[in-house]
Amino acid sequence: MDWGMSNRMSRMIKPESGHSVMLACDHGYFMGPTRKLEDPHKTIEPLVPYADTLAVTRGVLRNSVDPKWDVPILLRVSGGVSILKDDLSDEEITTSIKEAVRLNAAAAAISIFVGTAHEKQSLVNLARLVDEGEEYGMPIMAITAVGKELEKRDAKYLALACRIGAELGARIVKTYYCDNFSKVVEGSPVPLVVAGGPKMDTEEDVFQLVYSAMEAGAIGVDMGRNIWKNDYPVAMIKGIRAIVHEGATVKEALQIYRENKGTH
Ligand code: R5P
Repeated sequence: MDWGMSNRMSRMIKPESGHSVMLACDHGYFMGPTRKLEDPHKTIEPLVPYADTLAVTRGVLRNSVDPKWDVPILLRVSGGVSILKDDLSDEEITTSIKEAVRLNAAAAAISIFVGTAHEKQSLVNLARLVDEGEEYGMPIMAITAVGKELEKRDAKYLALACRIGAELGARIVKTYYCDNFSKVVEGSPVPLVVAGGPKMDTEEDVFQLVYSAMEAGAIGVDMGRNIWKNDYPVAMIKGIRAIVHEGATVKEALQIYRENKGTH
């Protein structure tokens, strides 16, 4: 791996643990001002000290992220469809790698929609982005998006989608946790991080997902709603960090959450 590529990867994935807690705040690119992310600066600021990477679009980066904050940026560079459409798969590349370099991003992220009407388009978008990214030493993350079809998230489908993302050159893949997640990990030659998906009922559910994903071989999370939609986002991200970086149990993470509820 070239120095620039290697340096960018190790800014996001902490060399001490080989793991990463990425904070996902890129939802507005198709959801608009979704609840608790209406003012991205307000949501992100208290969480930055606990995030190994911050995932945003260039619009949020320029307008809501202080350039003095010391956090690597994972720049969302695909889009073109809104939540108002039934089919969310019709995405294009919306931000160039040159712009990502100008914004000092650590990596660029693009969704792929395997098995949808726009499968080929999204995969070719990924391959093109990888070509450009490799030229500049910029790692590309493939995101195995399922649009509104959340029921698609099983091991067979996710293993296929992750493997295709890696085969097309993604240096890291973001996917969903599922039963038999180790099968998804085994089939992927590149590291996997998991998203959280819609807000879950309890903190324990979230910590259990993170714990199970790590046990099965994920290297971390790229999680949003289950952190910042919680009433105590800082307590939540601290609990998640303990699991990801220190191998804490679900019970220990819950204890950390309870102890930190007053902090935000
Ligand atoms: C979709 O908006 C993005 O890919 C999110 O970054 C991803 O879904 C992770 O966020 P969450 O944990 O809220 O699902």
